[in-house]
Amino acid sequence: MTTSTSSHYHETHARSLADPEGFWGEVARAIDWIEPPKKVFDPSMGLYGRWFAGGVLNTCYNALDRHVAGGRADQVALIHDSPLTGTVTTFTYAELLRETQALAAVLQDFGIGKGDRVILYMPMIPEAVVAMLACARIGAVHSVVFGGFAAKELATRIDDARPKLILSASCGIEPGRIVQYKPLLDEAIALANLKPDACIILQRPQQGCDLLEGRDHDWAELRNEAIATNKSADCVPVLATDPLYVLYTSGTTGKPKGVVRDNGGHAVALAWSMENLYGVKPGEVWWCGSDIGWVVGHSYIVYAPLLHGATSIMYEGKPVGTPDAGAFWRVISEHKAVAFFTAPTAFRAIRKDDPDGNFIRKYDLSNFRTLFLAGERADPPTVEWAERQLKVPVIDHWWQTETGWCIAGNPVGLGMLPVKHGSPTVPMPGYKIEVVDEAAKPVPAGTMGSIVIRLPMPPACLPTLWEQDERCNEAYFNEFPGYYKTSDAGYLDEDGYVYVMGRTDDIINVAGHRLSTGGMEEILASHPDVAECAVLGIKDDIKGEVPCGFLVLKAGVTCSNAEIEREVVALVRDKLGPVAAFKLAIAVTRLPKTRSGKILRGTIKKIADGETWTMPATIEDPKSLDEIGAALKGRL
Ligand code: COA
Ligand code: AMP
Repeated sequence: MTTSTSSHYHETHARSLADPEGFWGEVARAIDWIEPPKKVFDPSMGLYGRWFAGGVLNTCYNALDRHVAGGRADQVALIHDSPLTGTVTTFTYAELLRETQALAAVLQDFGIGKGDRVILYMPMIPEAVVAMLACARIGAVHSVVFGGFAAKELATRIDDARPKLILSASCGIEPGRIVQYKPLLDEAIALANLKPDACIILQRPQQGCDLLEGRDHDWAELRNEAIATNKSADCVPVLATDPLYVLYTSGTTGKPKGVVRDNGGHAVALAWSMENLYGVKPGEVWWCGSDIGWVVGHSYIVYAPLLHGATSIMYEGKPVGTPDAGAFWRVISEHKAVAFFTAPTAFRAIRKDDPDGNFIRKYDLSNFRTLFLAGERADPPTVEWAERQLKVPVIDHWWQTETGWCIAGNPVGLGMLPVKHGSPTVPMPGYKIEVVDEAAKPVPAGTMGSIVIRLPMPPACLPTLWEQDERCNEAYFNEFPGYYKTSDAGYLDEDGYVYVMGRTDDIINVAGHRLSTGGMEEILASHPDVAECAVLGIKDDIKGEVPCGFLVLKAGVTCSNAEIEREVVALVRDKLGPVAAFKLAIAVTRLPKTRSGKILRGTIKKIADGETWTMPATIEDPKSLDEIGAALKGRL
């Protein structure tokens, strides 16, 4: 396949690598700086150099104040659409700014200042966006924890980030059930070694909660008083290299990694991406259907659209069941969204309920131009279905929490390249993607290997892990010197298109959510009757993958296998959270292993997925694999 000649992609990407300082220096003009950077890139700083060293800015100013001053005061900045509460609420740029100024002043009253951490454990409500922006406004570092995580996960993040303050709400809403956040928050604080000074709790009308005297404060009371007394916090100047937020993501153990995002590089790369990658202009309506607890939500519900002066939709609902498989089309049509970003899993769920796309034809989608998919590999059948039904380009693009924005995509704004199903297309500016073997030697086109990115990483990518430079080196930079290790495996084709086929570590992707099987194994192993265990991701029609746990029980256990299986399923839900979707645990007499004692996860997965498999030469006892096949019968 040849690539389009009318796209500016090739010259843009080539320039970003040949003259990174010239390229990013020009892109940085989209941002208002209090003091311009002294150096576009300083190779002597940080683990691999730092972007926009010496530059001073404020991210919230760039997301709100400058648009209000520049003529967008009355433009809608945020549309909150919640089929779960039956409400649609809009905020103009001026209104969002006023809310943010007031909450930022409240945070300052609690003694929060530059560099202090604030944890947000919040459902998908506008106050969560206001809270993120309020932190950015005063130079505080927010750390948003996804609402589907359990108390123990929240506790781990509290201990690592050491927040002075936690912002939360009384409840989240899932279809058919209210998720009470407050008991989870209380349990997390009890479990954590570090106790925050205070909590600010938003009481939602669907389910209130008790506030703890002395520690908990009512969000609405504080907000109302701040508005009534005209309290307002000014933007605090921060360095481009100062942290904007820490976002925890699954590592290869139960201990999550605190990915740090800086202020300057983040603002610059995100502002570039809205027009050049997503093809969205200031003033247009954009929808990212993720959750603010994930990186995609941080970047494309909150920061990028606002930095760009667009209107962002925040959706509290699901692709199906709220109320039906037409929910996405209703939102796109009602709010006139020009582009939409979601995960392939959502489309698989819609396709299952509405295979002929009947709901799609009920809505006027005439403003809708492009669908973007990310979070997991966009499987070609799903992409083809979406293309057929929607009749707009469907763009897969590849991402990681660590990068904060797209690594490889199809740049709609620069001029789309031909789509090849199964590939997220080509590297974005600043990313030099290579595929290497175990000795870090590049492999020929079409050959699978480890996907790595040549250092330096472009702006917005992680400079380090929160207070853990060494862990960052260990996780990303040591194995392939001179490169960032993505921990994804795949290949490049002869046109330079990237194919991302799967992880090289124990991370699995469940409904677009990134989870560590190692973390789940730690939880299973904590059950007193479990001697040994293995968790692996097995195929699922909707979620892509779901975890499946194999347990070897201790000798002399008196409970039935079924009882223990039920208990470990409950344990994972309790310790990690419902988002793990851990519903299948199977007790077996032993785990298939190599003669050197390594569990044969790959072969077990193939058996569970119904794929053809060959007997590994190094297996200790071939019969152990037959036993796995027998144990799986009737369980999938
Ligand atoms: N708070 C509390 N619980 C939550 C939650 C939250 N914020 N988010 C999810 N959960 C719970 C769900 O209720 C569910 O609980 P259950 O086991 O009691 O049913 C569990 O966690 C698993 O959730 P999920 O993986 O979302 O599965 P689902 O069956 O509810 O929905 C999809 C499946 C495909 C519809 C849904 O995963 C989805 O919309 N995914 C798209 C995600 C996305 O767009 N990501 C963008 C990344 S780029
Ligand atoms: P997260 O950090 O949660 O964004 O998850 C990142 C991981 O999700 C990547 O390392 C990939 O394994 C996977 N991923 C995300 N987007 C894609 C994509 N478009 N194609 C293939 N894998 C993807």
